Amino acid sequence: MQDIITIDGPSASGKTSVAQRVAQHLGIPYISSGLLYRAVALLCLLENVSAEEIEQHLGKHRLELKPTPGQNLVFLDGQEVSEALHSLEVDQIVSAVAARPAIRQYVNEVLRQIPPPFVVDGRDMGSTVFPQARYKFYLTASPEVRAKRRVPEREASYETVLAEILRRDQADQQQSAPAQDALILDTSNLDLDGVVQAVLAHITPAPGGPITK
Ligand code: DC
Repeated sequence: MQDIITIDGPSASGKTSVAQRVAQHLGIPYISSGLLYRAVALLCLLENVSAEEIEQHLGKHRLELKPTPGQNLVFLDGQEVSEALHSLEVDQIVSAVAARPAIRQYVNEVLRQIPPPFVVDGRDMGSTVFPQARYKFYLTASPEVRAKRRVPEREASYETVLAEILRRDQADQQQSAPAQDALILDTSNLDLDGVVQAVLAHITPAPGGPITK
């Protein structure tokens, strides 16, 4: 078992904010795996090519994720692109990018090179990428609650954001099943602090391990 905490869940379930806070509380880095899929999606937009085409040329590009205390910095061929990863344009194509097995393999290799301890959020962190993680959580919330949470982060109406969330739930379904040993937390009626407390309540100092409260 490794000192890794996985926090998976559907889009806008709050997993990144929760992962950030939990990591901060424990004094360890957090990693947002979705950023790597977003970076590949951005590459498609920049090069004006499909997910299928980019898959063939991934070896030519260098993708790096650097966790810093406040945020994750993403570099594409040495250039920092973090700011450009949360547009509606990227939202719209990222599921198609993430559906391609060779792209998933590429992203997973980048993730597995990061040395523990860390908190990581995504869809399949507990089930596929880090099955050896010490703690696994899966956050859920209704699509309406998730849309309401995401509207302030997008230049789009509630209806547009909700439609996008429903479409992405469908498109991401395959890689979004919770790990069998994950603790499932419904966050619909909890605020951010409530979810963070619920997660931290399950994390106990490991004998001899560095994850401490
Ligand atoms: O968590 P997010 O919204 O930033 O993720 C962006 C997209 O990447 C999302 O549509 C699903 C996909 N994704 C994935 O398939 N597997 C992951 N581990 C993380 C994200």
